[in-house]
Amino acid sequence: MQTLNLLQKYIPAFRTLKTPFYFYDMELLQRTVNACKQAMSKYGYHEHYALKANNNAPVLKVIREAGFGIDCVSGNEVLWAIRQGFPVEKIVYSGVGKTDEEINTAIGHNIFCINCESTQEIDIVNRLAAEAGKTVAISVRLNPAIDPHTHEYITTGLEENKFGISEWEFGVMVEKLKTATHLQLIAVHVHLGSQITEAPIFQQLCTRFNQLQEKLRQEGITVAHVNMGGGLGVDYDNPDSCPIVDFESYFATFHEHLKVYEGQTVHFELGRALVAPCGSLITKTLYVKNGQKKNFVVVDAGMTDLLRPALYQAHHAIQQLSSQKTAEIYDVVGPICESSDFFGKNISLPQTQRGDLIAIRTAGAYGQTMNMRYNLRNLPDAYYSDEIKNVQK
Ligand code: LLP
Repeated sequence: MQTLNLLQKYIPAFRTLKTPFYFYDMELLQRTVNACKQAMSKYGYHEHYALKANNNAPVLKVIREAGFGIDCVSGNEVLWAIRQGFPVEKIVYSGVGKTDEEINTAIGHNIFCINCESTQEIDIVNRLAAEAGKTVAISVRLNPAIDPHTHEYITTGLEENKFGISEWEFGVMVEKLKTATHLQLIAVHVHLGSQITEAPIFQQLCTRFNQLQEKLRQEGITVAHVNMGGGLGVDYDNPDSCPIVDFESYFATFHEHLKVYEGQTVHFELGRALVAPCGSLITKTLYVKNGQKKNFVVVDAGMTDLLRPALYQAHHAIQQLSSQKTAEIYDVVGPICESSDFFGKNISLPQTQRGDLIAIRTAGAYGQTMNMRYNLRNLPDAYYSDEIKNVQK
């Protein structure tokens, strides 16, 4: 049985808009956020949405209204989260390379906690806290040294990654934490990587985290909060039949395997799983170029509009929205002067011609936020389903 394309009802409106543009299905976003909230609330877990995945104001409004906090990775993200109305006591701030200015921004706004990623950073935050005359809440990000079986560029929890503090550094870390006069350690944090689709990986993360936390407790280090990061992957192959990820089993894994000490709260930083499915990049066919070995559909969106396929060899479902003709095999490519500027190779699409609309699906996470102006390209606009109804045919 063919699944109804979730974009179908918006196609007449799409025809009136200048391509390429991002389209967000706000109803799907709301349903996704609700599903996450419901699954989490069973266990009293807290979510700090990873702002880097998508920072558009209408998207953030839905997330904020669900009561979620925010995970930031730059001073500007901290300031943007505050401007979008997120309470400072729900903001966490990670990143291996925070500048003094960025740390001072976080200190100045009294955010929930700064996730320190190195023993060196612990020293600097302590010094800047002292200069500000404050005691600052921090967490330490531990490197769990687990392979999350995802693309190497989005793996962060391996021993050789730059992220977090490794187990061999615990001696130094504990010493620094015990002697830091202006820090209060409130949390321990881990984040393994992104687009993790194998459930046993999260179970492995819990087991490893339990060991690490136990080791710290033996050193006299206890915390009020544990933060398990983000990383839950989405189904890029089936945007219409499986648009909402299985939050129930994700959180159940942590409930079953994570050791939580009395009074501790458990936090997450999911980004992609919340916002990827609701976003699509809508583009128009400029040329159909028939070769001897291949046929190319050249579209008006390129890697500047959606970098993921070029950077991570990521797969996004590609759908032709204009015709029902018999299928042909195409490479779908962009206009940028780079051979990596393609969205898919050997894709089956209904026979395509100039002007046909193409949707590149599941692009709501790390799509617009990674846009760039290479070739002096314009940045794509964003449209939201709750306002697009007003766009006339
Ligand atoms: N927490 C931390 C500390 C992170 O570094 C990240 C993502 C997250 C949470 C959220 O992870 P998520 O739930 O979204 O997987 N641009 C890449 C993804 C980079 C992810 C970086 N860190 C992509 O397009 O696949």
